[in-house]
Amino acid sequence: MKGIILAGGFGTRLYPITKVTNKHLLPIYNKPMIYYPIEAMVKAGINRIIIITNPPHINDFVNLLGSGQDFKDKNGKQIQIVYGIQNKPSGIADGLWIAKDYIGTENCILILGDNIFWDDLTTHLKKFKDGAMIFLKEVGDPQRFGIAEIDENNNVISVAEKPKKPKSNLAITGIYVYDNTCFKKCIGQRASARGEYEITDINNLYLKEGKLRAIKLKKEWFDAGTIESLLETSNFVKSYHEKHSSTTKN
Ligand code: G1P
Repeated sequence: MKGIILAGGFGTRLYPITKVTNKHLLPIYNKPMIYYPIEAMVKAGINRIIIITNPPHINDFVNLLGSGQDFKDKNGKQIQIVYGIQNKPSGIADGLWIAKDYIGTENCILILGDNIFWDDLTTHLKKFKDGAMIFLKEVGDPQRFGIAEIDENNNVISVAEKPKKPKSNLAITGIYVYDNTCFKKCIGQRASARGEYEITDINNLYLKEGKLRAIKLKKEWFDAGTIESLLETSNFVKSYHEKHSSTTKN
């Protein structure tokens, strides 16, 4: 399985901080934001990753991450990082499509570069055979997210992108695991009213085939794309580090 990290967009919700830089290069406490999804993938055993970003920022990512020399898999071997370019912010499904040739015939895990979480995905990825997996987290403001409705056995009943009347408070986080049919599913999609190719449309196709599974994240999850959540995420990471270093000292 290969990884895709989406780090495009112009981060307009963070202006003026993102006027001359990319959102995913901003600090989350002591590291650039993009380090978190990379480390989450590496921890889960993914060692080949494509980062998709936009033309004005691609050089900054290359300067920061190069070929992946700062990240090692569990055998101490350097991971591989390559790059893809998204000319316009045309949505998550468009980003997925850009990664098609790099993924080849394999399965993939797609993570949005501003999603920061602590669950270890290793077991889920090991168990994955086909279809799609989405990861859910309860939120207080469901209108802001893709939302999943599930039954008592975690079977998905419906998914909707930023619904006005959400059927649950379970946000679909920016972590998606797909078999190789995701690329066929991208063909013939239409852009939504906000001008984006929505990942929720791809998830809906898996749902119609009875191949969409939902997993609830157990630990913290942040979408660090707003001023408030950027600060909240940094504060959380700071307290996590403080707790962790005091535990190791004792
Ligand atoms: C995107 C997705 C949405 C998902 C969210 C998670 O929203 O469209 O379904 O819940 O990421 O971070 P966006 O951040 O593009 O508004």
